[in-house]
Amino acid sequence: MRVSQLGWKKEEELEKNGNLKLFLELEKNGNLKLFLPLSFTVSSKTAISLVSFFAFHLLLKVHTLTEMEGELKPMDSEQLREYGHKMVDFIADYYNNIENFPVLSQVQPGYLRKLLPDTAPAHSETLEDVLEDVQKKILPGVTHWQSPDYFAYFPSNSSVAGFLGEMLSAGINMVGFSWITSPAATELEMIVLDWLAKALKLPDEFLSTGQGGGVIQGTASEAVLVVLLAARDKVLRSVGKDAIDKLVVYCSDQTHCSLQKACQIGGIHPENFRMLKADPSSDYALSPDTLSEAVSHDMATGLIPFFFCATIGTTSSTAVDPLLALGKIAKSNNMWFHVDAAYAGSACICPEYRHYINGVEEVDSFNMNAHKWFLTNFDCSALWVKDRSALIQSLSTNPEYLKNKASQGNLVVDYKDWQIPLGRRFRSLKLWMVLRLYGLEKLQAYIRNHIELAKLFEELVAQDQRFEIVTTRKFSLVCFRLLPLQSNEDYANKLNHDLLDVVNSTGKLFISHTLLSDRYILRFAVGAPLTEEKHIIAAWKVLQDEAATLLSKY
Ligand SMILES: Cc1ncc(COP(=O)(O)O)c(C=O)c1O
Repeated sequence: MRVSQLGWKKEEELEKNGNLKLFLELEKNGNLKLFLPLSFTVSSKTAISLVSFFAFHLLLKVHTLTEMEGELKPMDSEQLREYGHKMVDFIADYYNNIENFPVLSQVQPGYLRKLLPDTAPAHSETLEDVLEDVQKKILPGVTHWQSPDYFAYFPSNSSVAGFLGEMLSAGINMVGFSWITSPAATELEMIVLDWLAKALKLPDEFLSTGQGGGVIQGTASEAVLVVLLAARDKVLRSVGKDAIDKLVVYCSDQTHCSLQKACQIGGIHPENFRMLKADPSSDYALSPDTLSEAVSHDMATGLIPFFFCATIGTTSSTAVDPLLALGKIAKSNNMWFHVDAAYAGSACICPEYRHYINGVEEVDSFNMNAHKWFLTNFDCSALWVKDRSALIQSLSTNPEYLKNKASQGNLVVDYKDWQIPLGRRFRSLKLWMVLRLYGLEKLQAYIRNHIELAKLFEELVAQDQRFEIVTTRKFSLVCFRLLPLQSNEDYANKLNHDLLDVVNSTGKLFISHTLLSDRYILRFAVGAPLTEEKHIIAAWKVLQDEAATLLSKY
């Protein structure tokens, strides 16, 4: 809305007839919205002057206020307060109603293009208009990862503390690539990752006080990429750059595909990426003998083993590779040993689950995603290395325009040299908020509660003869499947595939699947912050009902 005309009559004229006339015209987007003639009858000259003085200022105020809408004032603190409150209300209402949405979005591909205009608006719109569109057009296309009925993939937790940290980070909005660009951002990250390393009882070499330290990456994929690059360059410095095609990477066939991507980016010859067969009899952990044999074989043919990645809590079934035995093999062959504990790392803050990372002393780098099961809103992937100089030698650049006294004097950490991008957010704030507002004891209780709920689900499945539990549950993931009436694996796979589809299309819960030894397996991962016992029981009821319907049709 803007004032297109504003006027008042001259005083000499007013003196003659004692009548003061004012008019105000408001227009929006070129259309007349309001025409406001105001007239006052006044008797004395003083009164005329007074009224015209106040009227003039009133109109000027209206003019200024309405003109403001035409200008772009992107960081008006009063608007932030007003809109911020409205947005917080909107989000709180979303959480209150989250169970009313289908967990898995039921829209069809391309749905949104039909609902939104082809071009950006030429003129500003109101927050109310935008929020109405969010409600009607965006939320139907959202899969509700925070729903208590979300059991797919792995969790991706939100929390009030994590949300507040994100909000503060967005509010301050600095770009902390070097210490000098915001000393607090670098220093808080170092401190908070030291706290978390201590909570996980990682060896002291991972603390920032020694030669190593922690850094927040966006994702586990970035974490494994940066350490792979550091390891690659470290070995090439000793064997010569031309040997890159001889470098070999090892992992199990249960390792997350992010390692394969890291090898593709890192120029590792595709034939030298070894996905060793995990052992089904040990719940898909990698056997040290398998690694040892593969390494010996490659060395005998003149190849150079240089990188090994073990997983604590694999994506398919939360298998745990034995770190101690594998680490000895990696160490004796001068390989960089990385541990991906993206999901299960969080559980290791509980003393009773810490044994899963026994042997972490042998490890060069360790990663866990605080954004999965640690109440820290996406994204926040914690990576620790024992030797930070390896990362820095691989990833640092030192252009003139970034030089400063603190960096040049080697007095500080510049996290730009520990990651792929230059720019970085103030992500430590949310992890700090989570650790401070909840404390380790409540975080441990949070993890334990999910594991108890997963146990409950496992018991329910085990009691139903039509189903089987496929692998031993370790954390909060249950792998199970519906047994076919005839023992035919193709038929069993189709049956479980169909069960997944019908269950997810009810919108009442969302689960995902995997393949283990060529068998189609259903995954039920507990870990959403709002999930309670009643949600587990309701989800199981849906699974049982849909299974009964399917079995009667087959
Ligand atoms: C074991 C494991 N590693 C790595 C990843 C990749 O995580 P990100 O999305 O943080 O790269 C996942 C994702 O679920 C995972 O389960």
